[in-house]
Amino acid sequence: DQTAFIDSLMNEMSLDEKIGQLNLPTSGAFTTGEAANSNIAGSIKEGKVGGLFNIQSAERIREVQKIAVEQSPHGIPLIFGMDVIHGYKTIFPIPLGLSCTWDMDLIEQSARVAAKEVSADGIAWTFSPMTDISVDPRWGRASEGSGEDSYLGAQIAKAMVKGYQGTDLADPNTIMACVKHFALYGAAEAGRDYNTTDMSRLRMYNDYFPPYKAAVDAGVGSVMTSFNEIDGVPASANKWLMHDILREAWGFDGFVVTDYTAINEMMAHGMGDLQQVSALALKAGVDMDMVGEGFLTTLKKSLEEGKVTEADIDKACRRMLEAKYQLGLFDDPYKYCDVERGKQEIFSEKNRKTARETAAQSFVLLKNEGNILPIKKSGTIALVGPLADNKENMNGTWSVAGQVDKAISLRKGLENAIGDQANIIHARGANFVSDPELEKRFSVFGKNTHRDNRSEEAMIKEAVQAAQKADVVIAAVGEASEMSGESSSRSDIELPKSQRNLLKALLKTGKPVVTVLFTGRPLALKWEDENMPSILNVWFAGSEAGDAIADVVFGDVNPSGKLTMTWPQNVGQVPIYYSHKNTGRPLPDGQWFQKFKSNYLDVSNEPLYPFGYGLSYTNFDYGNLVLSADSISMDGTLKVSVEVANTGDRKGKEVVQLYTRDLVGSITRPVKELKGFQKIELAPGESKIVTFSLTADDLAFYHQDMSFYAEPGDFKVFVGPSSAEGLEADFSLTK
Ligand code: IFM
Repeated sequence: DQTAFIDSLMNEMSLDEKIGQLNLPTSGAFTTGEAANSNIAGSIKEGKVGGLFNIQSAERIREVQKIAVEQSPHGIPLIFGMDVIHGYKTIFPIPLGLSCTWDMDLIEQSARVAAKEVSADGIAWTFSPMTDISVDPRWGRASEGSGEDSYLGAQIAKAMVKGYQGTDLADPNTIMACVKHFALYGAAEAGRDYNTTDMSRLRMYNDYFPPYKAAVDAGVGSVMTSFNEIDGVPASANKWLMHDILREAWGFDGFVVTDYTAINEMMAHGMGDLQQVSALALKAGVDMDMVGEGFLTTLKKSLEEGKVTEADIDKACRRMLEAKYQLGLFDDPYKYCDVERGKQEIFSEKNRKTARETAAQSFVLLKNEGNILPIKKSGTIALVGPLADNKENMNGTWSVAGQVDKAISLRKGLENAIGDQANIIHARGANFVSDPELEKRFSVFGKNTHRDNRSEEAMIKEAVQAAQKADVVIAAVGEASEMSGESSSRSDIELPKSQRNLLKALLKTGKPVVTVLFTGRPLALKWEDENMPSILNVWFAGSEAGDAIADVVFGDVNPSGKLTMTWPQNVGQVPIYYSHKNTGRPLPDGQWFQKFKSNYLDVSNEPLYPFGYGLSYTNFDYGNLVLSADSISMDGTLKVSVEVANTGDRKGKEVVQLYTRDLVGSITRPVKELKGFQKIELAPGESKIVTFSLTADDLAFYHQDMSFYAEPGDFKVFVGPSSAEGLEADFSLTK
């Protein structure tokens, strides 16, 4: 069995080999196909490498695995990892977009598809899901998470882990997931990537920890540390976090890997030299060191000097070997290198169809005055904007294996849909931003932004001429895909002026203008909301983006996405989130300013678009909110039902959301907390009774002493189409 196998292997391994198992270099020369001659190949032969990441293709991985199996001292196979974040070759929407589907089956399926594809191509481990809660749209990596809510985030974390890992990790179709970045990475001060985080334990436990914990409860095989500090100690040296919480309180028994050079970065944090920080990391519970080689180069010395023990090293090595054992790598080190399966599976028609359907479900219709959308497949369409004909920006951030040239641009998608029924006139209209220096920072190798060197006036003029000849204008505007993602924080989250000027000029033509908005984060779109009649937010939808957008723009699919992060009116409102506290000086309902209340002089407290918000081409009415009782006991169940009717003339999906408010608590409680949701589909004229169950467990929270239970008392329950609308009723929880 596993223990006996690993015991006997470890008995034979030298100290150097054990430390080698804890070393995770990046592929470097392997990606260019020079495996056998690279330095890493030499290290593998010496048993100094435990795994490798971001190397691609079954053939190449087989070649490298062969070195480990045939030439290293004990032939221990390597674990190959990759950032498969929202798909492998078939790219799904960025995770923030995916979360807006509120469809756990679809989300699980997206991870399943990714696992099936990548596992045929040699990879057994992905650095996903990212479950960092964020309430700050300035933070570029909000694009990689599931938004601001811990309840929804926890459901998504579970679905993703299930999708990747399936029910049996040893199945060659499944891969090991890695929940990241543990912990609180999304709470970087001022939304600046890698910045300090500092928060109360209560907030950690109640709002930020639940999605990581949900992944652990779902059996995630590995955890990645975050770059930031927690309580003044960087995550990779934080014993409280990695031992007391992760292992003791949550019972995690997989392995912990650092983020990229996170151990080395503790020197800059001011925690000591490389030997010191490496010892701290091992002692705190890190098992694998990503890229930095602090473990590889210093642990032996630390052992000699008594700074770490052999038991510390053994523990980490054992966890790495256990992971490899569970993946079945000792039985067959090449089991994930299946070229034939890859040919069937990777970027298959079937997978692309799933990605297209998922993408269409992730779009959020933010505004649709006069029902401009959907548009007809006839007449002349002016297609303008920097994202109109730009396939390099469809996949979105962290799609390392995505094939940019195979992505469907918006133009291509529209052309596919209209055939010869309509006519498209294209004009670029604007660059992403006016300032070329700023553009260089998010232009990947200077390629994906396709900067146009004409004057802004000339570009706008051309777009206006196109609009004048058209029946309808589609303005494809927003962020380039690398304006969000890692190291892409923004302090100004409005639409860049170059693009806003384009929109202004288009409006002046008097033609109906549909705004198709690409973004990796909530933007401050007050001007656009006030002026543009229709806004469809499509995030970065992946390899099938263009076709999926066309599906929605022409009404073949009715949009049903709902926001999972609040969109502010302006950046000064950030952080802004629906589950805020009431404060001692709340604004009275219906007012937006009152002296000596908690508000701003120059902007109301309202978001531009609230959490849970999203329109449809049809209308849904909510009525008949019925509770099964006025009160429930600690072991009882309250049934909450509501009738939802489709009163429009199209079939549509609706995410019915249930929130509660705990009116009095021993600690202050949020004004609303999501406690349930159901996505339903209704034909025109159809209505459905949607029923939720609530128990005391759903109402429980962490207290000052970190105990977790529900307090008896009075509650409100709200059921509706977003966090800002709905029907409400009262109930109480009794002892
Ligand atoms: O998985 C990522 C992480 O999210 C950010 N730093 C690099 C890692 C590996 O590529």
